Amino acid sequence: MKINNKPFRSIWVHPEDSKVVQIIDQRYLPHQLIINDLKTVEEAAHAIKEMLVRGAPLIGATAAYGMYFACLEAQSATNVEEYIEIAANQLMETRPTAINLQWALNRQTNAIKSAKNLEDKIAIAFKTANDICDEDVDICKKIGEFGLPLIEKLSKEKNGAPVNILTHCNAGWIATVDWGTATSPIYQAHDKGIAVHVWVDETRPRNQGARLTAWELGEHGIPHSVIVDNVGGHLMQHGMVDMCIVGTDRTTYTGDVANKIGTYLKALAAHDNGVPFYVALPSTTIDWECKDGFTIPIEQRDSKEVTLIQGLHENEIKKVQLTPDKSNAANYAFDVTPARLVTALITEKGICDASEDGILKLFPEKHFDYAQ
Ligand code: MRU
Repeated sequence: MKINNKPFRSIWVHPEDSKVVQIIDQRYLPHQLIINDLKTVEEAAHAIKEMLVRGAPLIGATAAYGMYFACLEAQSATNVEEYIEIAANQLMETRPTAINLQWALNRQTNAIKSAKNLEDKIAIAFKTANDICDEDVDICKKIGEFGLPLIEKLSKEKNGAPVNILTHCNAGWIATVDWGTATSPIYQAHDKGIAVHVWVDETRPRNQGARLTAWELGEHGIPHSVIVDNVGGHLMQHGMVDMCIVGTDRTTYTGDVANKIGTYLKALAAHDNGVPFYVALPSTTIDWECKDGFTIPIEQRDSKEVTLIQGLHENEIKKVQLTPDKSNAANYAFDVTPARLVTALITEKGICDASEDGILKLFPEKHFDYAQ
């Protein structure tokens, strides 16, 4: 997508140095556009853990480049295999919920294994990371193509009046490599001339909606309103939301959806008010080994994300304290929406029920042994 009319991806190889990968440091958006270089495993792990990059697909893509750095660094290691394994573990430990991290690390580890020597490993790791990024762009574009008719239908039913779409967190192009998941159908509808308006949940504590989704949509000229997290239910009760579309960090093969904290409450409100609740996801976000959403590890982050709030003051990004000195805070970063509350999943292969049957119809090759 574009920033100031210039096309960007969220992660890319430095045009003059293929040993360097560049990212947008998302901690400073929307106020400052800062581009950081990543050159080491340590820097890739730090970027994921401290959320310079975030969003399930982008976490996976960054980890894939982390493995490329591991191969480059292994040139000065005494035990190459051991060095690469330690790097994979270090990257794996950065964030627990998004399955794309494990998926990308497994794909890299398997690809690298086949190499005859270290030079080959470096070349294969570089190609695999680039492939993961290119494939993600393609997948997210397809999610948009499959999601577009859902918006188009609502637009026709409303005789062309703006379709009001509620989204939570940021499942936009900067959460992926490009296009986004939840935002891809929205971008494609807007580009086709369909009137849309997006209700953007602020998404406390880190405000990925207010800071990132609002910024993205604004850069693309999409009408939107930022709302505090508690407004969605009221809007739905008053017929002001035509559909919800959210992303996911991990979806079980039975259709339970882990996503940013607060998603479950929106799904409950949508269910109670007959508003369709869609989850847009690449198949790389499906956990093919997980049957029950309540077994998905839920990240708990630093309580300072809750007690402090960040914003722009006199042209400087500042954090200020929100809570009394003596109050503790709990910071659960994700929740699980049971499949029964999900109207359908929008994937790169089409739309399906949030159920084992529905998912396997789109991905029959994933049919596995249920004896577990
Ligand atoms: O903590 P974050 O910002 O990494 O959480 C992001 C989300 O919850 C997104 O909705 C999800 O990763 C889908 S991104 C296409």
